[in-house]
Amino acid sequence: MLNQGPLQWMERRKSWRDYTSELIAPKKLEFLQKTFQEIKPPFGNQIGLEIVNFKGDIKPFLTYGFIKGANTFIAGKVSTSSPMNWEDYGWAMEHLILVATGLEIDTCWLGGTFRRTCFSKKLELKKDETIPAVVAIGCGKQQRSFRDQVIRTIAASHTRKLWATLFFENDFSTPLIQTTEEYSTALNMIRLAPSAANRQPWRILKQKDTFHFYLKRSAGYDQHKKADLQRVDMGIAFLHFDWALREFKTEGKWIQETPDVTKPMDMEYIASWKKNS
Ligand SMILES: Cc1cc2nc3c(=O)[nH]c(=O)nc-3n(C[C@H](O)[C@H](O)[C@H](O)COP(=O)(O)O)c2cc1C
Repeated sequence: MLNQGPLQWMERRKSWRDYTSELIAPKKLEFLQKTFQEIKPPFGNQIGLEIVNFKGDIKPFLTYGFIKGANTFIAGKVSTSSPMNWEDYGWAMEHLILVATGLEIDTCWLGGTFRRTCFSKKLELKKDETIPAVVAIGCGKQQRSFRDQVIRTIAASHTRKLWATLFFENDFSTPLIQTTEEYSTALNMIRLAPSAANRQPWRILKQKDTFHFYLKRSAGYDQHKKADLQRVDMGIAFLHFDWALREFKTEGKWIQETPDVTKPMDMEYIASWKKNS
């Protein structure tokens, strides 16, 4: 049922904001639903995922007009206080987005432009839980609307930051110039990852076979009780990196051990991937 593999899904995936009235085939939805059980976020947070349908009960401004034509969403809830909750949420949702892409379902992450209260009821959200973001799913219109094109232009969605500004070797004054095919592919897959407003907050420092992931926060994306979207972005990057390396049969583990390296003031250490010996 899946068309191609993870590397192609990462390359093919793009955000879609206009959908046709065509329904997603029940078999595909079933497949997606079954995938929920396979999701294993690296830091062990429980993510309660659901496919949510709005039909008769669709509310105006559900997505503040950002999404047109879709009434099916993937939504999830996670503890507001558990360590690495935002990263695990990003990992879990992106797992589903990539599988959806393999099923030829179009998607769009929504972290800012959706009404949380409408989803809270459907997910029976408890006091200590939050819905950091949701994902619209459906059959994207072939032609992007003018509105979608404007949103993409504002976020510069078709571009990515330069390799040398994102990836470093041994210290933060040395850009990572050359590495093995598997590592360069995996880092490139991070560059293709979606991120809130396309801010690409990930910075990665390679030390031999360990990659340290840092967050460089953008103005206006501070920690927020309901959603720390840039840490969700980090979890998405973890998944792209990990899955890309698995395609080369390279496996590693996710750990939190702050490296003894001088880091720029505006960067925050999040976690590291260490190759299995
Ligand atoms: C955590 C997260 C939150 C996002 N929130 C929104 C949103 O609220 N509204 C929206 O239109 N797009 C949203 N996006 C989509 C990004 O704008 C998009 O991923 C980025 O511009 C790159 O474009 P691409 O996904 O087509 O590669 C979000 C993406 C992520 C990862």
